[in-house]
Parts: sequence; structure tokens; C-alpha cells
Amino acid sequence: MNDLLIAARKNKYAIGGFNFNFYDDALGIVLGAYELSSPVFLMASEGTVKFLGVKKIVNYVKQLKEDFNIPIVLHLDHGKNIEIIKECINDGFDSIMYDGSLLDFENNIKNTRMIAELCHDRGIPLEGELGRISGIEENVRNIDDALTNPDSVVEFIERSKVDSLAIAIGNAHGLYKGKPKLDFERLSKINDISSVPLVLHGGTGIPLEDIKKAIKLGISKVNIGTEIKITYFKTIKRYIGTINKNDVRHLISTIQNDIKELIKQYIEIFGSFNRV
Ligand code: 13P
Repeated sequence: MNDLLIAARKNKYAIGGFNFNFYDDALGIVLGAYELSSPVFLMASEGTVKFLGVKKIVNYVKQLKEDFNIPIVLHLDHGKNIEIIKECINDGFDSIMYDGSLLDFENNIKNTRMIAELCHDRGIPLEGELGRISGIEENVRNIDDALTNPDSVVEFIERSKVDSLAIAIGNAHGLYKGKPKLDFERLSKINDISSVPLVLHGGTGIPLEDIKKAIKLGISKVNIGTEIKITYFKTIKRYIGTINKNDVRHLISTIQNDIKELIKQYIEIFGSFNRV
């Protein structure tokens, strides 16, 4: 699975990591990737895993993989709870992120490595996080702004055994208060020394030109979550005023279609179309 990110890095495009909360948005995401022949990371947060259950998610995504012949990577996003992480590893997730960013450097390395070994035993790649991506992630509000220190990158990757690395370069989860300012110089420095592909979290609200620039400078996966949720609700609000307002199936397919179009816009920006 990590080969997808390695190929993206080599050819200077990025693969979208899109968060889903339910089956409707998961299908919308996959339809967008399918129509543009793009690989895709379908990402479940711990909240989504608790809500739907690991087995139901894995079975549903297995069906999506059969129905749509594109690489679909089922990924746990921001895993922090060891029991949930183990369940995902053992029950069929394709890729895991361990988020030890709230720990100090040594403990982040120690835990990340422990999870990396569990993942690698099953041939599953692990994404780690160095630095602290601020903003809101599953009700955890983190106001500390700790950008990734390039001086720690090589040591972190070597000792933790991660296969890809999420970095903090001014990006944040949720909605930005002002215009986000990415530290491109920092990104460039990190990319020069990193042996693994780099991941940009907090994609919602980053100007598209800045996303493109970040990809040119070495980002191989871009995560988008909040905008998918916003699209979901915008569609419902628009729908309520229409003549079909009691038609649940029509509502759901309209949501799927709107999410599909959003995903296609991002895939065009990321450059991952026609890659399968
Ligand atoms: P946004 O919700 O800001 O798009 O970020 C998503 C994300 O990075 C998930 O890991």
C-alpha cells in the first residue's frame, strides 16, 4: 500500500485522504476517485470506527473494492487508542496512522515504533506524526502550535520505523480563522532529508494554489475532512426546500453526487487522476 505514496512522491502528485463518517459519504468519495481513475485513501477516524464498528466498515469497503476497480486504501486516521488500533490492524484495515503528537519526542518514538511493529507484522504501512498539527480533531482542541522541527525528522523516521510522516507546517484541522500560512521553506527542508513520503493534514481551507505548491515541494498525501461534512449538510439544507423533500433515497444520492463532485475537484488539484 505504501507503494502508492512512493509513486506519488516520485511523480510529484498527491493522493487524497478523505474522511468519511457514514456509508453515504464513503460511496461519494469512491465514486469521485473512480470517475477520475485515481487511487484514494478512505479514512475513518476513531469516532467513525466507534460509530460504525470495524467489521462493518471493513465489509463495506471490501464490497466497494469489488465494485470499483481502483486502489482503495482503508486507513485509520489519528489512531490514539491502542485497542482500536489493534482491532483495525487485525480485522482488515489497509493502513494505519498513529498520532503520538501529544507525547514528548521520546514517547512519541517509543509508541509509534511499537505500533509500527504490529503493523509491519501484517504488511500494513504506518503513518506517524511529528510536530503537532493544531486545530480540532475529534473533539480534542489543541491550541499549541508546534511546527515540525527539521532537525528531528531523520531520527524520528529511523527510530520509529514509520512509512509516511504527517508534518506540521502551519496547517490545522477544522476551519482556519484567517488565511492559513504554510511554511514552504520548512516543508522543502523536511522533504530533502525525509526517506518517507510526507502527509499534509488539515486540507480544508488551504488555498488551492498553496496545496499545489506543497505537492510540488514534496507532499504525497493530502487529508480533507471538514469540507466533506460541510458539503453533506449544505446538500441537506438545499434539499429541504425542494419538492422531493420526503424522498430519502433521492436525498442520499444527491449527497453522494455532491461529495463525488467535491472529491473530483480535489483530485484534479492533487494530480492523481489517470493513475490506475
Ligand atoms: P480537515 O478537516 O481540516 O480537512 O482535516 C482533515 C484531516 O487532516 C484529517 O486527518
